[in-house]
Amino acid sequence: MIELSSRVNTMISSPTLKLLQIKKQLQTQGKVILDFGAGEPDFSTPENIKEAGTAAIRNNFTKYTPTSGIAELKKAIRDSYQAEQAYAAKDSQIVVSPGSKYGLFLLLQAIVDPGDEVIVPLPFWVSYPEMVKFCGGRVVFADHLQPDRLFELTAASYISRCSAQTKAVIVNSPSNPTGKIMNSEELGKLIDYFYKKNILIIIDDCYRKIIYTSGEYPSPMNLVPAASEHVAVISSLSKTYAMTGWRIGYTIAPEKLAAAMTKIQEHSTSNPCSISQKAAVEALSGDQSAVQAMVEEYRRRRDYFARRVDEIGHITYALPDGAFYFFADFSHYIHIKKFRDDNQLAMDILEKLNVILVPGSAFGAPNHLRISYATSMEDIQEGLRRLEEYLRNDR
Ligand SMILES: Cc1ncc(COP(=O)(O)O)c(C=O)c1O
Repeated sequence: MIELSSRVNTMISSPTLKLLQIKKQLQTQGKVILDFGAGEPDFSTPENIKEAGTAAIRNNFTKYTPTSGIAELKKAIRDSYQAEQAYAAKDSQIVVSPGSKYGLFLLLQAIVDPGDEVIVPLPFWVSYPEMVKFCGGRVVFADHLQPDRLFELTAASYISRCSAQTKAVIVNSPSNPTGKIMNSEELGKLIDYFYKKNILIIIDDCYRKIIYTSGEYPSPMNLVPAASEHVAVISSLSKTYAMTGWRIGYTIAPEKLAAAMTKIQEHSTSNPCSISQKAAVEALSGDQSAVQAMVEEYRRRRDYFARRVDEIGHITYALPDGAFYFFADFSHYIHIKKFRDDNQLAMDILEKLNVILVPGSAFGAPNHLRISYATSMEDIQEGLRRLEEYLRNDR
């Protein structure tokens, strides 16, 4: 038997993708599963975007492209970023990749050496720690689980974990799993502190267009102009445009870093899919009304969730500002039902109710569950009805 590399042995499989496999297995047994585990929109890709992809195939736009993305897509990224974030990125700062997940992977590969520390938010998106470990780096957590400031993304939580080994910090705003946004004041403080220490600030904003607050989303590239060589933004088309399967994400990074990422992409995937790149041009530069409609629907579901969860009672949460996840503390019910932990609660819910919820432990937050509302209102109503009945049984 061939020995696996020590690098890959440090990695654990993605718990959220594992759930998807369990769902498929249960479905093949004929079970109807209500899935609140999904990290992807339940909507279809808007028609104009699908049409652009189809046209790309018809026009034989099916060959290799420049590694970091076609010029037309880079222009669309520049224009939309300028319009939304008032920042003029250069083409040489942009790397389009097969999903933002791969963009982050390229970026970490380009900067992290064994022994370097990367500060990641807690709770975290499942891939951050695994990617850092894969590079030989050490994961350090910025704790956002303080009961008095539940899930609040503060600069202090990162600054308190800074050390001589810190190479980068990852900010995820809006956050998966909490939906919380780091406000301009906190983000400004964080950037100002870390750039002066020559530490890279990575902002994963892949949910930035799915927000429910009235205030502007902070523009990280402009908050501290002197920090421009120390800020990288990772963005995605997956969530905003319901394009998860097309695999298009992009990074805006300092030029030297973008060039290093491009080199790694050159020798790993060559380029993002040519057809998807054409579809992405349409997504970013075409009609945006489908995005508004999706965000409105997510907001409606979030509000419904909050109301129903309050009615059920004994579940602690902070209302999400964005993304499409409800992250809540179920300690009361874990205790009442005499379960060991959130994994056991989630498994029991799956077995008894045919409802998928993701255990908070997967995000570093035991006793919590993540409930995605990127699923139909009918399923949400039925799922919450089952959950209420189940939780009330032994209350
Ligand atoms: C916080 C966060 N970042 C990045 C990604 C990756 O998205 P994609 O690779 O589809 O662009 C996800 C997907 O779930 C996510 O939740």
